[in-house]
Amino acid sequence: MSRSAARTRSTPYPPNVVVTFLAPAQRPAGCALAQSLDLPLRDDPSGSDLQLIHTAARLELHDPLTGARLHVQFGPGELRRYRASLGPDPLRRAIGPTPRHVVDATAGLGADAVRLAVLGYDVTAIERNGVVAALARDGLERARANGLLASNNPAWRTGDARLLLPELMPPADTVYLDPMFPPKRKKSAAARKEMRLLRTLVGDDADVLELFEAARACASDRVVVKRPVDAPPIAPNPKAAYRGKLIRYDVYDTRIFPAT
Ligand SMILES: C[S@@+](CC[C@H](N)C(=O)[O-])C[C@H]1O[C@@H](n2cnc3c(N)ncnc32)[C@H](O)[C@@H]1O
Repeated sequence: MSRSAARTRSTPYPPNVVVTFLAPAQRPAGCALAQSLDLPLRDDPSGSDLQLIHTAARLELHDPLTGARLHVQFGPGELRRYRASLGPDPLRRAIGPTPRHVVDATAGLGADAVRLAVLGYDVTAIERNGVVAALARDGLERARANGLLASNNPAWRTGDARLLLPELMPPADTVYLDPMFPPKRKKSAAARKEMRLLRTLVGDDADVLELFEAARACASDRVVVKRPVDAPPIAPNPKAAYRGKLIRYDVYDTRIFPAT
């Protein structure tokens, strides 16, 4: 973790996370989750930095210090908003035409992966932080149970994309990266609550250049990197850049014989 991230956050990094539950009926599910994440299960979670709570309805992450709460929800409203971006969308232009296999190698809470699936791509989402992945998968499963998302798109893999990318079948046409970067001081105060809590969990993605190189080696067509609109590219000479109001998508060609 970078020093800047430590200064802007009151919860320590890495945080000590425990799994808990609201009612005795959720204890077995909490126990299974704690085992799968190799985290302690606590009837009384006080004293922990972050609490992953099994409620009857969903999985939630609580930060008792700041009172922030997080769960993942892909409801009809969110999916309608994603579909509405079918027009001249910079993300779509950056990713390339459908159909193609897009690997979101920094899937986080799954919002971009779901957006890409809704836009018609075949998506594999990869996330290395087990707690973040559990929250995302909980949101995906509820959307699927409500018939809002296909059963296998996005497909989900929990693990380090640097290791998983080379073994994916079919291989990726486009690898999409949205790494966590140190917040600008001014922006961090206004940053969305979810983003702050996510940062508390995962810190900064200081090894992003290794992931970028792995992506470059594995994508048959391109790597797309999401950046704040005014931030420098993470690597020199992107082939193209597509700008939205706040976000820019840098495109790196990985074809062996690019079309002229
Ligand atoms: C800014 S968040 C991504 C947010 C995501 N685009 C969304 O829509 O929710 C970056 C995520 O990338 C993950 N990450 C960073 N490096 C990774 C790697 N090598 N393999 C898998 N996940 C990685 C971090 O754990 C973090 O959750």
